[in-house]
Amino acid sequence: MPAPRPALVPLPTQLSFRPGHFTLDADSSLRVLPGAEPAAALLRELLAPATGLPLRPSPEGPFVLALDLDLGGLGEEGYGLTVAPDAVLLRAAHTTGLLRGIQTLRQLLPVEALAPGPRRAVAWKVPCVEITDVPRHVWRGFLLDVARHFQPVSQVRRYVDLMALHKLNVLHLHLTDDQGWRMPVAAYPRLTEVGGRRAESMVGPAGSDVFDGVPHQGAYTRAELSELVGYAAARGVTVVPEIDMPGHMRAALAAHPEFGNFPERRLDVWTRWGVCDTILGVQEPTFDFVRTVLDEVLDVFPSPYIHIGGDECPTAEWAASPVARARAAAEGLADTAALHGWFLGRIGDHLIERGRIPTAWAETGEGLPARFTVMTWRDPEHTRIALKRGHDVVSAQHRATYLDYAQSVRPDEPKGQPGDVVDLRAVHDHTPPDDTDTAGRILGVQAQVWTEFAPAADRVDYLAFPRLCALADRAWHGNPSWPGFRDRIATHAARLAELGVRHGPLDTHVPNSRSSGKEPS
Ligand code: ACM
Repeated sequence: MPAPRPALVPLPTQLSFRPGHFTLDADSSLRVLPGAEPAAALLRELLAPATGLPLRPSPEGPFVLALDLDLGGLGEEGYGLTVAPDAVLLRAAHTTGLLRGIQTLRQLLPVEALAPGPRRAVAWKVPCVEITDVPRHVWRGFLLDVARHFQPVSQVRRYVDLMALHKLNVLHLHLTDDQGWRMPVAAYPRLTEVGGRRAESMVGPAGSDVFDGVPHQGAYTRAELSELVGYAAARGVTVVPEIDMPGHMRAALAAHPEFGNFPERRLDVWTRWGVCDTILGVQEPTFDFVRTVLDEVLDVFPSPYIHIGGDECPTAEWAASPVARARAAAEGLADTAALHGWFLGRIGDHLIERGRIPTAWAETGEGLPARFTVMTWRDPEHTRIALKRGHDVVSAQHRATYLDYAQSVRPDEPKGQPGDVVDLRAVHDHTPPDDTDTAGRILGVQAQVWTEFAPAADRVDYLAFPRLCALADRAWHGNPSWPGFRDRIATHAARLAELGVRHGPLDTHVPNSRSSGKEPS
């Protein structure tokens, strides 16, 4: 009886299994054509722990890794993979495409190939297959909030690996918030020394009166972040840093009250959850501070996109501040609330002057210059409005992509962010509007794990998986069927198990299928 065909997540856009298989063994060698060396290095690195296969280079190797400019039509990330009984050919126009193909090859192997330690008794058979694969969206993101709860860099690297396995390509690191500042800035060491530690954390949702009495702290070194960027790049993942402003700045203002609206006021790093009233001031030294912070961010993170937050910024402090009122008048703004778009616009200019693309959370993008890329997160129609306003948009619609929400209504579902249930099906169904009549363009989609209620990796794993697999499936393939995904995720779970992922439920509590369709099996 033939072995069951591997279930691939995300589903390739064109996939045909053929009879037979290719076996990788100690004699298998790689023919690595010029430009394909980084992909060969990653393949060896990923397969070594479980398989111990040396995959030596050889000009006659039956396993060929090739850059092929004729495949330019497949774009930056597309690839072709042919597995025959006596040869494997992985081709792409760009190295990134080869990196994506390697992740497919890992999934075609027995699941033991993903194990962290030796599994030497396994026959490393790859089923014969013909794949041509091109992603639907260029931005397939995962936001990890390391501000509410710090995650050591080893943990972040692990998520990079898990993202790469699922062909997700943007790690959005939410580095700063009211409750913690994790980005080292040489000119302002107090940001991490003071802003990186809070005295305790609220227990339960925003508004609770209960606190745990346990200090929480952590910050990265610059070397750790630089190393992370390189590690991610070798896997075809871009790290997009976020420094959230002008709101969500309480931790920075605990370290540097002089950049706030009431410099004489002493603040703690926030111990509560929810939206904080404390925001940056609009005096020139505050802009100098922000530009200095961002210049260090630009040194560490080569990403074209730099996220400057912009969300949840109550403007009561500006209304109460004579300095802010005078500034709004001097700039000819209608009121102090309009300082928000003006603030972000000024900082956006700074990023543009340095060749980067300012990126912000937004409802519709109103108040933001069109050159901002926006992440729409509130209502589905906001995405369409932002596109019409001319923005490039990443859809982070909270009812489909906020993975801090519960994933089921089951009584054993752990308590998390109160609000909607975002089940596996809702994530898999999420399709951003993709009209051609809009001025902007949809870049893709992104899932977020906010970590108020996820202090450590086991909870982050639980929240992220398998919903992140669903997001990856939709974002890469574009139109995968729900029944097909449900079948595939059931077997994909064995891979997650090999990787030590403590995932959430593999089903969904929505009983009726709303779509159907056959997928290759
Ligand atoms: C957000 O959830 N405040 C972007």
